[in-house]
Amino acid sequence: DDSECDARIAAAKAILGKRLAILGHHYQRNEVFKHADFTGDSLKLSQLAADSDAEFIVFCGVHFMAEVADILTFGQRNVILPDLAAGCSMADMANLVKVKKCWEEISQLLDPDEHVTPVTYINSAADLKAFCGSHGGIVCTSSNARAVLEWSFARREKILFFPDQHLGRNTGLKMGIPLEQMVTWDFMKPRGGLTDEQIRNARMILWKGFCSVHQMFQPAHIDNFRKNTPNGLVISHPENAYEVCQKSDFVGSTEYILRTVRASEPGTQWLVGTELNLVNRLADEMKPRGVNVQFMSPTVCMCSTMFRTDPQHLAWVLDNIVSGNVVNRIRVREDVADPARKALNLMLEVVD
Ligand code: 13P
Ligand code: SF4
Repeated sequence: DDSECDARIAAAKAILGKRLAILGHHYQRNEVFKHADFTGDSLKLSQLAADSDAEFIVFCGVHFMAEVADILTFGQRNVILPDLAAGCSMADMANLVKVKKCWEEISQLLDPDEHVTPVTYINSAADLKAFCGSHGGIVCTSSNARAVLEWSFARREKILFFPDQHLGRNTGLKMGIPLEQMVTWDFMKPRGGLTDEQIRNARMILWKGFCSVHQMFQPAHIDNFRKNTPNGLVISHPENAYEVCQKSDFVGSTEYILRTVRASEPGTQWLVGTELNLVNRLADEMKPRGVNVQFMSPTVCMCSTMFRTDPQHLAWVLDNIVSGNVVNRIRVREDVADPARKALNLMLEVVD
């Protein structure tokens, strides 16, 4: 049971001390989140991993996050993902074969290495980050997408953005790029379902990926809230559709959402459009301070892959470390890690 796991986790932490760092993403369930030494959004966690001296980095998050931690620590740490099935359905919507095909198809119209910067959301496989690193491209997260896109536009006039169409579109709109200059590349269709003219005229080509959790939030949820709570405030993650973001008062990463809601006055009523575990925890935290926090969707929508990490898996990997076994280590091949690191480091420089 959970209390037995808690005891095993606490014992392993006591034995390993500073040799161990447990990182927890904000979407982790409480039973796991409470054991994290560090918590954060994707950007903060990758910086924490890069700066960590710990010999064992146990990543309570999803697969791409553990890959980033391994890449940024040059394979010199043991980066461990408690459940190997903790992936990200959005990251799986783009793969190297399809992205390369898209790049080649664009190159029949224009020389992409001259005109197009490939930008990958951090929610992507390591080989896609490597693709960006080898084609003058860069990585972004939900908290630095704008700075990264500005950097990209300063170099080349077009961007191929994958896998999340929404983060791309929402960020483009904020920068004043009109919707008609952003086209969606439908990776299920030949030539992305676009005409030559659409590709030539576009400033942003957006991969048709999306987050299955955030797609549950609808503009009607915001309309209902505003009707019942005229003075309420709405805050959303940029993985939401643009109609949801347009109707929100604030849009930002998980870390931004937490920071903004925590800074609000007593009596504030919030509607929050992001994953349920984060929202429930925030609601509990803010309640004693007189701040009401509501989840945007009437139906339960959790990230099922974030949820895969449970106390049982965490206790199991820690027990193994204590007994001298490293299980579930995430290793990125060097020929992939090197160019991927280039694209990640560029991002970290742009943010600084
Ligand atoms: P951030 O925590 O970086 O905002 O990302 C949210 C997310 O979906 C992670 O997969
Ligand atoms: Fe992926 Fe969405 Fe889950 Fe984040 S919330 S890990 S984007 S499926």
